[in-house]
Amino acid sequence: MADNKKLRELKEKREKLLLGGGEQAIEKQKAMGKRTARERIMGLLDKNSFSEYDLFVEHDARDFDMDKKSLPSDGVIIGTGTIYGAPIAIFAQDFTVAGGSLGLMHSRKITKIMDHALKMRIPLIGINDSGGARIQEGVNSLAGYGEIFFRNTISSGVIPQISVILGPCAGGAVYSPALTDFVFVVDNISKMFITGPEVIKTVLGEEISMEDLGGARVHSEVTGNAHFFAHSEDECFEQIKKLITFIPWHNGKKARAFDAAEPDKKFNISKIIPEDPTMPYDVKDVIRAIVDNSDFFEIMELYAKNIVIGFGRMGGKTTGFVANQPLEMAGVLDVDSSDKAARFIRYCDSFNIPIITLVDLPGYLPGVDQEHAGVIRHGAKLLYAYSEATVPKLTVILRKAYGGGYIAMSSRHLRADFVFAWPSAEIAVMGPEGAANIIFRKEIMSAADPDQMRKQKVEEYKIKFANPYVAASRGYVDAVIDPADTRKFLLHGIEISEYKDVPMPAKKHGLPPF
Ligand code: HXC
Repeated sequence: MADNKKLRELKEKREKLLLGGGEQAIEKQKAMGKRTARERIMGLLDKNSFSEYDLFVEHDARDFDMDKKSLPSDGVIIGTGTIYGAPIAIFAQDFTVAGGSLGLMHSRKITKIMDHALKMRIPLIGINDSGGARIQEGVNSLAGYGEIFFRNTISSGVIPQISVILGPCAGGAVYSPALTDFVFVVDNISKMFITGPEVIKTVLGEEISMEDLGGARVHSEVTGNAHFFAHSEDECFEQIKKLITFIPWHNGKKARAFDAAEPDKKFNISKIIPEDPTMPYDVKDVIRAIVDNSDFFEIMELYAKNIVIGFGRMGGKTTGFVANQPLEMAGVLDVDSSDKAARFIRYCDSFNIPIITLVDLPGYLPGVDQEHAGVIRHGAKLLYAYSEATVPKLTVILRKAYGGGYIAMSSRHLRADFVFAWPSAEIAVMGPEGAANIIFRKEIMSAADPDQMRKQKVEEYKIKFANPYVAASRGYVDAVIDPADTRKFLLHGIEISEYKDVPMPAKKHGLPPF
């Protein structure tokens, strides 16, 4: 039957295209521990949920004998599907076809799915495995990247954009991810760089491996370009799926609510902070003692560890957490931790996610390195992000809240809706030792026993300022609470902030200290 013939033809054409760059190239891909682009999409999306578009797209390049070459589907797969039922637009670059390089038609496929995602208001996931701009296509490849960057920017804050780096990604293949919300990397597989080792060798005469230049660990620990680090593609996909459960489909919606569940009793919030105020503790234990199911989904776990960010649920609702980490550099704020937290706060604010801030820090990190690295500009990002955020903001001062750190960490003055403090809170311009040395210097120097006098003055200062009651007496702190009641106060605060509405002055946009 004619129909059957046509169907057979379709099947044959499809089967050929589904092989991408061919069996040999697929074998090479697998030998590197990588899945094929199609396997990746299937591994990520709900079973049988993927609808593919533009399978038959071909490049139309002419130069460098390109007119004699066929590049199946032009090296990228696009389509839509679901993850745990949530709609998703997705593209995956196919490294088996010309190294996943981006030519004009390749870019048009990506921009088509990006346009769908924005129009339909659904999250976009991009799986990047690409040598960047397709050299043979010249300015057409550059134009393609420009179109992608533009869409990344316009979609920013409207729909979630997730990038997965699953191969050696160069040039434009890393700038697009850098414009998206979350970047996932896998150990030994992901590489990101603007100029690769070959270029560095030619221009600078320096030899460096791809891994040392821009491997998964480099971007998770050093540059902060990656937000999630995994040991395998499977682990990476589980992380992405989990993230999808925490975020809304677009900025006009809230994240899906789940059944509320109490935290695990093994996290006893009253016993986490040591008696000695100079001793560290793991603030993640405090978060786990507060969130539903003690389930805290940390973001950028390996970067700027002196601040902790991530999602949890409170009463079933997604909530963002920002917390100083006393285990790392006493939880100080510095260039990197300010950047890390500020960006996350803006994410939560864009996507209707309330923010809980846990405060315990001695202030901003002093030193020439930090000053010259631009701690003024970077630190100001945190002030800007908190001030600008209009989602519910709840703050708990656990222990130290000194100086600029007190103001920056979602203080009342930056319009926190609720500020709670534990009895262990110390809210002052600086720590007792430093303060006593400055304001009582004359008394200390002229005393018969300066050490004894210093101790006495430090004690006096502690009694006067190193507590939450001065701030509470001015209403800067709304309630001094028993740590055991923290979850109760926060749940209530989030509940009654459900319809929070704060008008802001009309403007085109502000000028955050980028
Ligand atoms: C055309 C490319 C390509 C590219 C790789 N290929 N990158 N073809 N344009 N940009 C092809 C190779 O020729 C090869 O084809 C196949 O893909 C696999 O590449 P290999 O080099 O064999 O793989 P590997 O050894 O794993 O190295 C991968 C790589 C390397 C590190 C990505 O290929 C590389 O350095 N490529 C160039 C990277 C780059 O400089 N890109 C341009 C960036 S500028 P065959 O036929 O042999 O299988 C850019 C502009 C935008 O992107 C900037 C925006 C700001």
